[in-house]
Amino acid sequence: MRSSVTDLDLKQRPLNGDARTGVVHTAPVSSVDVPVVDIEAHSVAKSFGDNRIFSDVSFRLERGASVALVGANGAGKSTLLRCIMGLIPVSSGSVRLLGQDATGARASDLRRLRARVGLVSQKHNLVPRLSVLSNVIHGLLGQEPGLRHWSQTLAPAPSREAAMAALESVGLAEFAARRADRLSGGQSQRVAIARALVSQPKVLFADEPTASLDPAAGEDVMELFFQLAREHGVTVVFTSHNIEHALHYGDRILGLAEGALKLDAMAAALTTSDLRGLYD
Ligand SMILES: Nc1ncnc2c1ncn2[C@@H]1O[C@H](COP(=O)(O)OP(=O)(O)O)[C@@H](O)[C@H]1O
Ligand SMILES: [Mg+2]
Repeated sequence: MRSSVTDLDLKQRPLNGDARTGVVHTAPVSSVDVPVVDIEAHSVAKSFGDNRIFSDVSFRLERGASVALVGANGAGKSTLLRCIMGLIPVSSGSVRLLGQDATGARASDLRRLRARVGLVSQKHNLVPRLSVLSNVIHGLLGQEPGLRHWSQTLAPAPSREAAMAALESVGLAEFAARRADRLSGGQSQRVAIARALVSQPKVLFADEPTASLDPAAGEDVMELFFQLAREHGVTVVFTSHNIEHALHYGDRILGLAEGALKLDAMAAALTTSDLRGLYD
């Protein structure tokens, strides 16, 4: 396998480089200042058959950004999210996710890529008859496919410990042994957050994460989700019906309407009435 040091690098290696270790001693350069771009969508279009959902959607999201994707019902928010994650193919354009092509990649590369992101959906999709802990361990299945990560009794100790830590972070450690179908809606969604976090993703996607919860539980879930996302410094892309949530939790707002990205602005510069038009 080729190392990451190219022939060109070797030729250009400065005299103060250490040939033995390969460490190049240069003046501190921009690498610390240049933000990591986690998601780059370039002129993305998606149709289902003849039904064009959106076209020419382009944006770049830097590491640690929190982005709300807003728009009316049916505008294509979930579809765009699924395109970015490589869950469905784009009709044209391209997406880079964590520096990798999420649109033209082979299935095996895509699986590996998806194992590096977390997803929280509108429905928590927990396995009802399994324990809370087993459900959180399932969050490691992308990285560790196979039966051993299907159940807490089979999972290796480090995986169980990681899952317990994730459960603790959502305040549900004491529910580890409980069956998932014995939880409230809010608790279930917190378990889904723990499941999304257990693999320590760099990017978290959330598609209407509070849509099935009552307002108070929804508020708790959003608070927790964003507190953890900030703690871990991850990039978050979430969709929401709720204008207040979008403006409160998103640093940046992307708005889909009439098949196009009609809005790309910092949340601080927007008011609820600016966004209301997008929902009409
Ligand atoms: N798998 C699919 N096949 C055909 N049409 C789809 C499919 N998924 C979504 N759509 C259509 O795409 C449009 C956008 O849907 P969606 O992305 O779910 O919107 P939103 O999340 O903004 O409510 C809708 O008209 C929906 O019916
Ligand atoms: Mg949707």
